Amino acid sequence: MSFLDSIQSRYTAKAYDKSKQVPSELAEQLIEAIRLAPSSVNSQPWHFVIVESEEAKQRLATAIGEQFAFNQPKILNSSFTIIFCARQSISDEYLEHITELEEAAGRFPTAEAKAGVHGGRQFFTGLHRDAGDVPEWAARQLYLALGGAMYTAAALKLDSTPIEGLDMQSVDAEFGLAEKGMASQVLLSVGYHSDEDFNYGVAKSRLPADEVFTRL
Ligand SMILES: Cc1cc2nc3c(=O)[nH]c(=O)nc-3n(C[C@H](O)[C@H](O)[C@H](O)COP(=O)(O)O)c2cc1C
Repeated sequence: MSFLDSIQSRYTAKAYDKSKQVPSELAEQLIEAIRLAPSSVNSQPWHFVIVESEEAKQRLATAIGEQFAFNQPKILNSSFTIIFCARQSISDEYLEHITELEEAAGRFPTAEAKAGVHGGRQFFTGLHRDAGDVPEWAARQLYLALGGAMYTAAALKLDSTPIEGLDMQSVDAEFGLAEKGMASQVLLSVGYHSDEDFNYGVAKSRLPADEVFTRL
């Protein structure tokens, strides 16, 4: 299957078969793909909570709130759900941590290269600190990880559901995310769809190419 084929066949699963669990080697490939997601200046301003035990699924399903009850069965019947969390502030120590990891990975041929990359990271982070929009900036990076995860799931022939229908403050409180300097933004349930999934096999609909692209 080509990459485009898997993008065309992916869809948002609406009901899961609880008896079909995702093999752990596929789950780990998906999780590793999320870790490898790109972000501006490699800031990686995120954390991911993998909700896989029955007890944690119940806690998450309750925490997303009655208003979003339609999403609860997806959490309860999928194999696992990932809580995508955005970092709410970026400290100098955190930026140094990233630079040290890059150095340990062997990315800097010289001390000047290290200083240049670190300076660039400080510059871009400073722009967002000054604008007061670090949480929004972090959330934008986080959605790259979400998109990558959705396409990776499709390539692995796994079904998935991106979920913005959640009470984020309630989820943050239930999982102690604020104490970690994080805030939940979106979920991704992953598993295999059930026969009751009304969305399976439904034709895809998108704006036509001439509406969404301008070729110059
Ligand atoms: C960020 C995001 C949040 C979404 N939130 C929900 C949700 O809470 N519940 C749900 O059933 N579908 C949700 N969806 C699914 C969208 O409705 C769906 O992606 C869109 O209609 C396109 O259809 P497709 O994914 O099947 O191609 C969400 C999708 C995205 C990308």
